[in-house]
Amino acid sequence: MEYLSNFWLFVVGTISVLLYLAWLIPKRTSRPPGPPNWPIVGSLFYLNKLPHRAMEELAKKYGPILYLRLGYVNHIVISNAEMALEVLKTHDANFASRPSSIIGKYGGYDYFDIVFAPYGDNWRLLRKICVTELLTQARLKSFEPGREEEVARMVENIAKHNQEGKPMKMRHIFHELTSNNICRMLFGRYREKSDCFLGKEFDNLVHCVIELGEIGGKFNISDLIPILKPFDVQGIEKKLKHIQNQAKNSLSIILNMYRNETKIVTNSTVTDFVETLLSYDDGKLDERSIMGVLTDLIGGGTDSSAITMEWALTELIRHPKIMKRAQEELDAVVGRTRPVLMSDLPNLPYLHAIIKETFRLHPPLPLMVPHFNTQDVQILNYKIPANTTTIVNIWAIGRDSKVWRKPLEFDPDRFSDSDIKIGGSTFNLLPFGSGRRRCPGMDLAQHMLQYGLATIFHAFDWFPQPGIKLEDMNVMETFGALCPKDEPLVAIAKPRLSSQIYKQLT
Ligand code: HEM
Ligand SMILES: *[C@@H]1O[C@H](CO)[C@@H](O)[C@H](O)[C@H]1NC(C)=O
Ligand SMILES: *[C@@H]1O[C@H](CO)[C@@H](O)[C@H](O)[C@H]1NC(C)=O
Ligand SMILES: *[C@@H]1O[C@H](CO)[C@@H](O)[C@H](O)[C@H]1NC(C)=O
Ligand SMILES: *[C@@H]1O[C@H](CO)[C@@H](O)[C@H](O)[C@H]1NC(C)=O
Repeated sequence: MEYLSNFWLFVVGTISVLLYLAWLIPKRTSRPPGPPNWPIVGSLFYLNKLPHRAMEELAKKYGPILYLRLGYVNHIVISNAEMALEVLKTHDANFASRPSSIIGKYGGYDYFDIVFAPYGDNWRLLRKICVTELLTQARLKSFEPGREEEVARMVENIAKHNQEGKPMKMRHIFHELTSNNICRMLFGRYREKSDCFLGKEFDNLVHCVIELGEIGGKFNISDLIPILKPFDVQGIEKKLKHIQNQAKNSLSIILNMYRNETKIVTNSTVTDFVETLLSYDDGKLDERSIMGVLTDLIGGGTDSSAITMEWALTELIRHPKIMKRAQEELDAVVGRTRPVLMSDLPNLPYLHAIIKETFRLHPPLPLMVPHFNTQDVQILNYKIPANTTTIVNIWAIGRDSKVWRKPLEFDPDRFSDSDIKIGGSTFNLLPFGSGRRRCPGMDLAQHMLQYGLATIFHAFDWFPQPGIKLEDMNVMETFGALCPKDEPLVAIAKPRLSSQIYKQLT
């Protein structure tokens, strides 16, 4: 008897201990932690006009992977390098899709483009065309003369403003540079004729795409609370439809122009992007995809690079010592008797560090483009159910105080003894994302930034608008899809080379 009861006592005791231990082990299938959910709106209240900052605050409280229900849509927010690696590398294929959204529907031509396309064959084909035919190193090289001309035109423009003693809105100047450059690559055949009547259509197209980006990047109530969709409470759908129609019109006119010339005969060794797209697979590419890809490339190629240049110049005007070192490097490598050449760019490590530091503090896409998983995924101890929108907060990752010493300070020297790259192989700095969805325009963007910035630092000294003290210069951002400086930078330039060079440049 006594033996038996001891035995049962032992069994019951063991089971209790095991249950207790099992309870102590975090549940393998639990959802990540997150702020309280309210009926209907979920956690929408926790966001504000600067969602990347609001999400950074939430991450301080709930951790580097957190769950956020916005309206009816499940989100997870990733806020450090380890978790970004889980999503963009370890489980890359699982998270490689995109959520559906009103902007994808209109801006992405029913998701027939690249940026908004779900993970699948159409996305794979278009992305392949982009990386193997449009954005290859050889192709980028063939467009170098065009880039040189556009940079020279910018210098001329700045010099002219200077002669008139007028402060300049720099974003506008950088915009012109990047949009002219991408339009040349896309539509070079027509773009180069300056008297070409298509100029109006190009301008309209660029304008529409930028507007799409501004409207489309915001969190949309109708996307989050589907019962509100029919009412279009914010009027977005109407606006997007209107813009898409305008963009489509311009694109149709341009594409017809290409198609009407039955055989494309050029003596130019440079074929433009539209020619490549139209001739791909004997012209069998879906019209929506052709328009979608062109819209993506204009959208990707214009705003993000211009915004980054504005941020870099802002930080260097605020930090004259850093500007001075950048100019000393340029004087040593380039000298003062000729303009910067493309071949100088690899020899400017301090400039590269300045660009990295700009991306760290001011990533133009602070929340990247949302990712999406079509199947359940397990990350560490968490279960991420299918159909979750995943946001990687690269803004927060760039300011993570566990990784970056004095994270809010602009200090390019932090990169002098580090092997941190911006191409997505190191996860502390991800301005272009990483993995299957990484930005395919990265090399083009870097060429443009290095060449454009090297030239303006080399050719001019820079000052803030009269009456503004350096320490009072504003470095707050505003949030759309992109994150430009809140107050556009207004600056004054003084030539620092002999006037001969400016003639040579233009
Ligand atoms: C400073 C410049 C740029 C920055 C910071 C930037 C950043 C990004 C980021 C963060 C993504 C999303 C990555 C992800 O979801 O994982 C992206 C996607 C994309 N970017 Fe860029 N980009 C830049 C310039 C460009 C340029 C010049 C082009 C093309 C001419 C371009 C074309 C694209 C396209 C097509 C995608 C969608 C890729 C996909 O969904 O598969 N971008 N970019
Ligand atoms: C959401 O969509 C509406 C149109 O339906 C648009 O007006 C609005 O700006 C979008 N974004 C936000 C944050 O509401
Ligand atoms: C191209 O040709 C079509 C039909 O042949 C014509 O309707 C259209 O106006 C032409 N477009 C341009 C831009 O020349
Ligand atoms: C191409 O160049 C050749 C000689 O360089 C010239 O004879 C011909 O007219 C040019 N063709 C076109 C379409 O410009
Ligand atoms: C995800 O969405 C798809 C398509 O809307 C649906 O068929 C599927 O049931 C959803 N899965 C979950 C787990 O919600």
